[in-house]
Amino acid sequence: MVLYVYVTRLVRRPGIELLERECETVEINPHDRALTRDELLDAVRNRDGILCLLTDKIDEDVFKAARGAKGFANCAVGYDNVDVGKATEYGFPVSNTPGVLTDATAEMGWTLLLAVARRVVESDRFNRSGEWGGWGPMQFLGGDVTGATLGVVGAGRIGTAFALKSRGFDMNVLYADDIPNEVVEEQVGARRTDLDSLLRESDFVSVHVPLNSDTHHLISTAQFEIMKPTAYLINTSRGPVVDEAALVEALRAGLIAGAGLDVYENEPRLADGLAELDNVVLTPHTASATIATRGKMALMAATNLVAMMKGEPIPNFVNPEVMGK
Ligand code: GLV
Repeated sequence: MVLYVYVTRLVRRPGIELLERECETVEINPHDRALTRDELLDAVRNRDGILCLLTDKIDEDVFKAARGAKGFANCAVGYDNVDVGKATEYGFPVSNTPGVLTDATAEMGWTLLLAVARRVVESDRFNRSGEWGGWGPMQFLGGDVTGATLGVVGAGRIGTAFALKSRGFDMNVLYADDIPNEVVEEQVGARRTDLDSLLRESDFVSVHVPLNSDTHHLISTAQFEIMKPTAYLINTSRGPVVDEAALVEALRAGLIAGAGLDVYENEPRLADGLAELDNVVLTPHTASATIATRGKMALMAATNLVAMMKGEPIPNFVNPEVMGK
């Protein structure tokens, strides 16, 4: 079978190698940046399949341009960048990469939590500046983690892994989710509660929900107002789940103590004033960025894409309902 695929940005070798073995032509965005809109619309024409990334807006115009393709394999667990309803309408299968990045993402949640609580980035910056005059009893005092209350918003795969990694810190774990989660209840004694109670009681609030119309700005001014002034917010999910301008205001006003963010509302732009704050740790959407994880994601996306193009069962099918169309 002669297959022509397009990869919207270079991903790690295992994915590219699989595509190269299975396809006649594998064309890869030659730039070290996301494609512009026009480049994307042009790139998807006359392809059998497209391996895309969370930075690509895959919407109706793209589906019109990609007529004839067998599907879109998103190299990310989140697929809010893809208009799945339209994909189904246009008959395109869509896949994602769940599971393989769960631990890496949960680890980044903990990295941010510890870094912001113990002021690691701020004190590292200070130390490098040469201004340190020696040990001081009042320097860089932060928040306690051991024994604190951890609030996990969304106890799916990543929220569960994040909650379980609290074991070494002997925390009181709360979670907010529509569905009870026996794993976190049994393994770390987590208690299910409504979001407001979780926000009121937690010392650390970590967000692990997918972005959709229900979760957009789930955390905004009203939520910051009920959090403890000593609490920290961690977000490794999607930027728009947190109202970033409201977060800047909350941090400035001392409504909460700090934030550790990996994702932003308008990536790569940060909300006005965010970068000037000392009580934030800001990673550039790198939660899944371990060498092994990114290799597994690339391989998984490529495997899904090959399955789509060959008409075989798609392992990580986001819209199986498309098959009935
Ligand atoms: C990363 O943000 C992903 O959704 O995989």
